Amino acid sequence: MATFFIGIWKVVVFTALFSSLHLFTAMCSEFEVGEDKGWVVPSSKNDQLYNQWASKNRFKVNDTLKFEYKKDSVLVVTEEEYNKCKSSHPISFFNNGDTVYKLDRPGLFYFISGVAGHCERGMKMIIKVLEPENPPPPPPSNNVAAEMASPTAVLLMSLFGVLFM
Ligand SMILES: *[C@@H]1O[C@H](CO)[C@@H](O)[C@H](O)[C@H]1NC(C)=O
Repeated sequence: MATFFIGIWKVVVFTALFSSLHLFTAMCSEFEVGEDKGWVVPSSKNDQLYNQWASKNRFKVNDTLKFEYKKDSVLVVTEEEYNKCKSSHPISFFNNGDTVYKLDRPGLFYFISGVAGHCERGMKMIIKVLEPENPPPPPPSNNVAAEMASPTAVLLMSLFGVLFM
């Protein structure tokens, strides 16, 4: 009996832990841009380094990006400015060395470094934020049941008809 209760408790505790963990992951995540290296000029000649990093992740609305950098900056810009590696009026500008940026809508976000030459050398990144998951479409109307029901109804009615004749 005692072991039975211990067993139940284990299940309860495990379930509670698991569901709270699940709840937590279902909320929002923080992504460290560039992982250990942070937001820097890529050492290799790979100017798609940050986009490769971004393509390995799935970003949701309200996830945050953490940029760590020294003597540099983070600019949120338009697609055109991203392609030109230049912005005179960025959407957002940060240079405090430790920037947490919230992805507050689905769609594309363009980031570049504001230091001359850094964007050209690969300090740039496009982030695609996924559309929030919509509830699944309602199942198709219950035609099967309706089709099944009517012959039954007809049968019943004819039975009644027979009985009352
Ligand atoms: C994102 O955060 C805002 C404000 O905190 C909230 O109103 C909104 O519902 C959140 N959106 C999602 C998809 O979690």
